[in-house]
Amino acid sequence: MKLAIIPGDGIGPEVMNEAIKVLNTLSHLDSSFSLQFEELPWSSNYYMESGKMMPADALDQLKQFDAILFGAIGDTRVPDDITIWDLIMPIRKEFQQYVNVRPVKQLKGVKAPLITKAPIDFVVFRENAEGEYSNMGGRMYHGTSQEMAVQTTVMTKEGIRRLAEYSFQYAREHGRKKVTSATKSNVITHTMKLWDEVVSEVSQDHAGIALESIYIDALAAYFINRPEAFEVVIASNLFGDILTDLGAGLVGGLGLSPSANLNPEGRFPSMFEPIHGSAPDISGKGIANPIAQIWSAALMLEHNGRPDLGEIILQSIEKVLVDAEFLTPDMGGKSQTAVLGDAIIRAIHEQA
Ligand code: NAI
Ligand code: MG
Repeated sequence: MKLAIIPGDGIGPEVMNEAIKVLNTLSHLDSSFSLQFEELPWSSNYYMESGKMMPADALDQLKQFDAILFGAIGDTRVPDDITIWDLIMPIRKEFQQYVNVRPVKQLKGVKAPLITKAPIDFVVFRENAEGEYSNMGGRMYHGTSQEMAVQTTVMTKEGIRRLAEYSFQYAREHGRKKVTSATKSNVITHTMKLWDEVVSEVSQDHAGIALESIYIDALAAYFINRPEAFEVVIASNLFGDILTDLGAGLVGGLGLSPSANLNPEGRFPSMFEPIHGSAPDISGKGIANPIAQIWSAALMLEHNGRPDLGEIILQSIEKVLVDAEFLTPDMGGKSQTAVLGDAIIRAIHEQA
């Protein structure tokens, strides 16, 4: 496969190194897996040199690849809205990566902060192309006491339908019996009512899979009270963003939470990235947890025809977590990023 790699800023390049090591290991061990990759320097450093987060033809360049593996961006020298809106958002939106997959899965060996009746294992599908993250709006009367700002949420029937359809189909294919929809239609009466109606309509085509609709505020509490009861959760862009960081907290932290931005039709490459950011508080120290990045690479293999290799990665991660000998500080250990990465690579060799 032909892979574009964008390490980005801060801990992005640090954790990406480990994911590249893992992918190279797999391509050496398995002759049927051929990997070609190109590293693209688009980042805040690139912005400081060129005034742009990525070149004008960046999307055309990216179209040539089968998939994109992304690290993280964010740097104190560049406003966060520029790093996000000039790099990540154009890729997600222009490539119609409208399904953001975020597993909330408690891996074996991970000490989660809650005691639950069963291990936590569900997946959140976040709408990723419209919703609250629309950037439509503006400001008026700058600098006066009348200053005002408007930012519009955009929800379309088709945008909601395709996400709901993907979620119900996923549930069917993975033996899940229930889809939980995050809503707020009691207060947000236009967009969220459309959301409810379309999700309910899609659910009618999927007999045997129950739909439960829960207000986002109560849902936040249920994430804590009974996280083991969820199977598939669907949420709008903003709700899904917040819920999945909460989900990450439930299963060991941001360093253990991967994601996929999918263009399910395959018209454009999909993009795989940890849900964490560039972690400026620990960047440069070599102590970032590389698991979210490595697991994102596993999701990428799963979605590009090699679920077997994705599974090898996940089992190797779990083995290292259960052994608990080479953990990074966020998991209560003392190991460096590369030491944990090397331990995962040894576990891959043992399995192969
Ligand atoms: P963050 O995810 O970078 O960090 C939050 C906390 O989690 C920090 O204490 C950090 O040290 C810790 N953490 C995150 N990843 C970790 C890892 N792999 N191992 C160990 N600890 C880890 O979020 P924050 O601090 O809100 O944002 C920092 C920068 O990242 C900002 O510039 C923000 O805009 C950007 N950001 C970028 C994202 C992306 O590239 N997709 C997503 C979220 C934030
Ligand atoms: Mg987020």
